[in-house]
Amino acid sequence: MRMTDIIEKKKRGLAHTREEIDFLIAGLLDGSIPDYQVTAWLMAVCFRGMTDEETAVLTDAMAHSGDTVDLSALGDGTVDKHSTGGVGDKTTLVIAPLVASLGGTVAKMSGRGLGFTGGTVDKLESIPGFCTELARERFLSQTRNIGVAVVGQSGNLTPADKKLYALRDVTATVDSIPLIASSIMSKKLAAGARSIVLDVKVGSGAFMKDVESARLLAEKMAAIGRASGRRVSALLTNMDVPLGHAIGNALEVAEAISVLDGNGPRDLTELCLALASEMLSLSLGISRETARARCLRALADGSAKHTLVKLVSAQGGDASYIVNPSKFPRATAVHTVTCPCDGYLARMYTDRIGITAAMLGAGRQKKTDVIDMTAGIVLLKKTGDRVVRGEALATLHSSAVAPDTAENTFLSALDFSHEAPAPQTLIYDILSDAADG
Ligand code: URA
Repeated sequence: MRMTDIIEKKKRGLAHTREEIDFLIAGLLDGSIPDYQVTAWLMAVCFRGMTDEETAVLTDAMAHSGDTVDLSALGDGTVDKHSTGGVGDKTTLVIAPLVASLGGTVAKMSGRGLGFTGGTVDKLESIPGFCTELARERFLSQTRNIGVAVVGQSGNLTPADKKLYALRDVTATVDSIPLIASSIMSKKLAAGARSIVLDVKVGSGAFMKDVESARLLAEKMAAIGRASGRRVSALLTNMDVPLGHAIGNALEVAEAISVLDGNGPRDLTELCLALASEMLSLSLGISRETARARCLRALADGSAKHTLVKLVSAQGGDASYIVNPSKFPRATAVHTVTCPCDGYLARMYTDRIGITAAMLGAGRQKKTDVIDMTAGIVLLKKTGDRVVRGEALATLHSSAVAPDTAENTFLSALDFSHEAPAPQTLIYDILSDAADG
C-alpha cells in the first residue's frame, strides 16, 4: 500500500477501507509516513469529508492507537462528559461532584487549556496541592470509594490523535466535522465510560458557528459512540457569550463553588443542572425530571459541595480553599474597563474574550507557557445588558502583566447598540439517549 494512493483516493472523494485507515494510522505512529503526506491527506478530508463508516473506523483506529482505560470494575454506571471547548466553561468542577454525590460514577480524564479555551486540569491545579496525575490503581480505587476522580489525560492515551491534532493545528485543518468527531470520540472511547454526555458548543467562541453544523457534529459523535456500545447524549449549547462571569483559573474555581453553594450565575447553574441531569438519567436509567429534582436537592443540602471537598482532599489538595474560596490569592493588579457609550451590550466575540484572558496570563499561547492562576476577567455586563457610559463593564486581573494592556483587545470583543438585542438561548437542543429523551 502507498500513502500517495490513499491521498489520491481521498482527493477524488472516495471512501477508504479499514486496511487503508489502519495503514495510515500505523505509518503516522511509527513515522514511516512523513508529516507532509499526512497533512495533504488531512486537507483532502477537509474538502471531501468522510462517510459515517469511515469516520467510525478512523475513530476506532485512533482509540486503540495507545493505552485504553478499563473501567469495567466500576460497573455499568460510569459516566463521562465532554465539552467541545469554550470560554468560562467550568461545568466539570460542578458536575463531577454533583453527579457523584447522587450515585453516578465519574472517573474523568480532562484536558488543559490551549489557545483561547480553558481546561479543567489547569483550573484544578489552582487549588494548592491538587494532584492531577494518579496511578491507574489509585484512580480506580478513589472512584470506587468516593464516586469521583478527575485527572489529566494519561501520557499514552490516543497518541494518534495527539499527532494528528498537532498537525491539524498548524495546517488549518481543525474545522472538519469527521476529524473533530473522530478526535473527540477516540479519546472518550479510550477513557472507558459506558455513558457519555457531549456539550457541543455553538457560536463565536466555538468551532461550530451555527446550530446546524453543531447538530451534524453531535449526531456524528453520538453515532460513533453508539456503534461502540456506549450510551451517548448531546446538548447543543450557547458559546456566543462566555459562561458565567469569571474567566481564568482560580476565578473560575471560586465561581464553580458559588454554584455548589446555590448562589452561582443563572446561565452556569442552569447548564450544570441540564448536563448533570442528563448524565444521571443516562447512567442510572432514571427520568431527567427525577434527576434534576435530585440535583437541586444535592445543591441545597450541601452534599454536592461536600463531595467536591472529598475529591480535593483525596487528590492531595487543600480543601480549606473549597470551604472558604476567599483564600484564593488575588491578582496583584486589577484594572476596571468602563463602557464607552450608552445603550445595550449587543454582542460578545467570545473567542476574543478568551484571547484577552490568555494575554492576561490565564492561558497558554504555546504548550510550555506557565499560567498565572490569579489572572483572568470578571464580566460585570453580558450580552443583552443595558449599559451607561463610564459604567464598569469588567475587571481584568493579572499578577504577570499590567492588566490595562489587554483593555483594547477586550473592548474589541464587544459590540454596542441602541436597541436591545434578541435574548440569548442557553440550550438549543438536547439529542438524548436517556429513557425519557
Ligand atoms: N477537541 C478535540 O479534542 N479535538 C478536536 O478536533 C476539536 C476539539
